[in-house]
Amino acid sequence: SYLGIDLGTSGLRALLVDDAGRVLGSAERAYPVAHPHPGWSEQDPAAWILALDEVMAELAARVPGFASLRGIGVAGHMHGACLLDGDGAVLRPCILWNDTRAHAEAAALDSAPQVRDLSGNIVFPGFTAPKLVWVRAHEPGIFARTARVLLPAAFLNHHLTGEAVADMSDSAGTSWLDVGARDWSGMLLDASGMDRAQMPRLVEGSESAGLLRKSLLEKWGLTGPVTVAGGAGDNAAAACGIGALRDGEGFVSLGTSGVLLAARDGYAPAPETALHTFCHAVPGRWYQMGVMLSATDSLNWLSGITGRKPADLAALAGTVPGPGRVRFLPYLSGERTPHNDAAVRGSFTGLGHDTGVAELARAVLEGVAYGLRDTAEALKGTGADLQSLFAIGGGAASRDWVSIIATVLNLPLKLPEGREFGAALGAARLAICAATEATAEEVMTAPATAEVVEPLRDLVAAYDDGYAAFRAAYPAIRGVQ
Ligand code: XUL
Repeated sequence: SYLGIDLGTSGLRALLVDDAGRVLGSAERAYPVAHPHPGWSEQDPAAWILALDEVMAELAARVPGFASLRGIGVAGHMHGACLLDGDGAVLRPCILWNDTRAHAEAAALDSAPQVRDLSGNIVFPGFTAPKLVWVRAHEPGIFARTARVLLPAAFLNHHLTGEAVADMSDSAGTSWLDVGARDWSGMLLDASGMDRAQMPRLVEGSESAGLLRKSLLEKWGLTGPVTVAGGAGDNAAAACGIGALRDGEGFVSLGTSGVLLAARDGYAPAPETALHTFCHAVPGRWYQMGVMLSATDSLNWLSGITGRKPADLAALAGTVPGPGRVRFLPYLSGERTPHNDAAVRGSFTGLGHDTGVAELARAVLEGVAYGLRDTAEALKGTGADLQSLFAIGGGAASRDWVSIIATVLNLPLKLPEGREFGAALGAARLAICAATEATAEEVMTAPATAEVVEPLRDLVAAYDDGYAAFRAAYPAIRGVQ
C-alpha cells in the first residue's frame, strides 16, 4: 500500500491506497494556527509530528493493508519557513503562507534586478524569501543559527528520512528557485542573504527522496523498506490527484481561498499578471494558477454576519436572477491574483431598498466568479487552453455557484465523480511513482465526470458586461480606501 499525507493549514490528513491507487482508508487530526500579532500566522512543526504519529497509529489499528506500506508522499501547505539549526532542531515556529508581516521585504525583493525573471513570479508577501529577510532584521540571533530552511512538506520529508530533500513544485514558491531551470539560483539566494548550503537537496516530486528511517519503521510496526517521495506543494499535488498533467488540464477550486490552476507543458511565466508559475510535481512540466484569497471565505463571512449557513446562502442566491445589480469585490483579506494588494479590502456596490440577504449572497457568488475570470484572462494571455477544468472544493457542492462560474468564464466545468481527488490522493500517487516503475501518466488519471456544467449561453453577454464593471470597480474603490 501507499500513503499520501496532506499537511494542511488546519490539520493533517493521511490517505492509504492500494497498489492500483484505490482508497483503503484515511485518518486526520486538527491543529491550530497562531496569530500572535495582526498579519502573523504561525504553526509549531511539533504539532505536525504529533498529528502524524496519531494518524499512523490509527491507520495501523484500523485499516488492513497498512502493514504492507511501500511508499509515502507528502503534500504541504506552501511557502512556509521552518528554520533548523545545525543539529536539526527547530529554531522558531514556522511562518506560514498566509503571514503578511514581510510585505515590505517582499516589495523590496520584488523590485530587485532579475528576481522576477529568474523566479518567474512576483515576490508575494507570503512567499518564503521575504520571511527570511524579515528574520534577519528582527531576529538576528535566530537568523545566525539557521543552518537549514525547509518548507513544511520538506520538514516532514526530513523527519521521515533524516535528510533535507525538497521537491521542485514546492521549492518554486520560495523565490529562491530558478523555476525555468528547476534549480536553486545563486543570484536569488544572494538577494535575500541566503546560501545554497542552507537549502535542501532538490528532487522531482515523483522521484525518491530517501527511505523511511529505521526508528519510524519500528515505531509504526512496518517491515519496509518504505520509499519517501519528493512530494509536492498542495496545489501541485491536487493537480496530480485530479489527473491534470497535460497542457490546459486543471481545476477551479472553491476552498477558503479560490484557485484556478492549469498544467503547462512548457515554462511561460507572466509575473506582471500576478499569476503564479511553478514547477509541476512531475519532471518536465509546470503549472500556472491564480490565487484568490477569499472564495468560500467570502460566503463564510456573510454567513457569520447574517446567521445563515453558507449552503443556505448559496441556495438563496440561486433564487435571484443574475447577473445581479449588486456587486461584491471579494477582497476581504486583500488579494493576490490579479492585484498583488495586501491592503485593499472588499466592498458592495449597487445597494438599493430592494436589496436583501439573497441579493447580497448572489453578489458574493458572482464576485468570486468575476475574480476567477481575472485569472482565466491572465491564463489565456499566456497561451493556456482551458477546455478541461474540473470544479472541486467545498463551494463546488453548490450547483448554482458552479453554473455562475461556468457562465462568467464561458467554459464548461466538469464535476468529478466520487470524493477522493485532492492533495492527499495526489501525494499517494507520487509515492506510487517514487516506489515503483509506474509512470506519472499511468498513475495520475482523471476521475470519472459526474456532470458537465455548461455555461448558460443566453447570459454570457450580460455577465461579460458585469465583468467589465467588476474590473473597473477595483481601481475606483482602491482610490477611496
Ligand atoms: C499557494 C498558497 C496556498 C497554500 C495553501 O500559493 O499559498 O494555496 O498552498 O495551503
